[in-house]
Amino acid sequence: MTISSSRHDDHGLQSVRWAGDRLELLDQRLLPEEIRYLELTTPEQVWEAIRELAVRGAPAIGIAAAYGIYLGIRDREEDPARLAQEVRRIGDYMATSRPTAVNLFWAIDRMVRLADNLAASSADAEAFRSALLEEAHKIFQEDEETNRLIGEHALTLLQDNMGILTHCNAGGLATAKYGTALAPLYLAKERGWNLKVYADETRPVLQGARLTAFELMQAGIDVTLITDNMAGYVMSKGWVQAVIVGTDRVAANGDVANKIGTYSLAVLARAHGIPFYVACPLSTIDLNTPDGSHIPIEERPEQEVTEGFGKRTAPQGVKVFNPAFDVTPHEYVTAIITEKGIVKAPYEENLRKLFES
Ligand code: MRU
Repeated sequence: MTISSSRHDDHGLQSVRWAGDRLELLDQRLLPEEIRYLELTTPEQVWEAIRELAVRGAPAIGIAAAYGIYLGIRDREEDPARLAQEVRRIGDYMATSRPTAVNLFWAIDRMVRLADNLAASSADAEAFRSALLEEAHKIFQEDEETNRLIGEHALTLLQDNMGILTHCNAGGLATAKYGTALAPLYLAKERGWNLKVYADETRPVLQGARLTAFELMQAGIDVTLITDNMAGYVMSKGWVQAVIVGTDRVAANGDVANKIGTYSLAVLARAHGIPFYVACPLSTIDLNTPDGSHIPIEERPEQEVTEGFGKRTAPQGVKVFNPAFDVTPHEYVTAIITEKGIVKAPYEENLRKLFES
């Protein structure tokens, strides 16, 4: 894989971009110190970028995987039936990169379904390949529009001058643009509101410190960084009027998987009478997963905890548990904000309705 350094322009940071003949991913492992794009030309490189968190955040992972599938077939000359088999094979492979964010499987599924349909029609190989590239572009572009709508709906729950607490990074870096949880903050800024944002640092990979604080500062939004264990104190001071987070998967009953630490925040929010909002596209809602206990929770290398960012901070040989996500039971979720509107309990029934209209 080649690497290019580039300054980001006035349009802000772009986590994923298609450069005509290659996929470019902003290497999020290097932020906030360095802005560098990876230039990827094979599915294996995309798989590794997802696995190693160069690209992360549920929607961005899905977008990257869709382009990764296209990269695997773009130089192949076989007939569409054979190409469709290859799409399925690469999709299965891409699905092994990370287990929790359902957007990954959703995007792979879209590519595989399209490939099967094209194989069943009279498309030739060239039409097949360009339709798959077009589908990856669509997944990318729809995400931007979806997030703007999420932001509009979320804004109806907020008011000027509120204090907002967020966890991990569910911003532009985690999506095509705007983010999910951070979308209303960008729209509020456009409208001249003054929200005060508290960003949890988000141990152990520090998405809050490295990414959320960084992108909000770039946008001129008032952000204060706190460590995760400060959230309760900040709430007790009366500085937080709403918690907004993203999610990697919402189960059919409204249980929410998100970055480790989200559950604790939801409990704290309840204890302080603060609403706890979850913002996500419909592609993050998985009606095939009945409840949170069925969501696969990724466990990551112990080095993230014992020697994150190069310095050993725990004794050699210590036992480590490092789940990347936790599940917040739906009882703690005040509302789920989607592009189709705001959903409240009873979640089982109301989430299903979203897909019926
Ligand atoms: O491990 P990460 O950085 O991929 O985790 C990301 C999150 O938990 C986000 O909150 C979630 O994917 C929503 S992104 C809009």
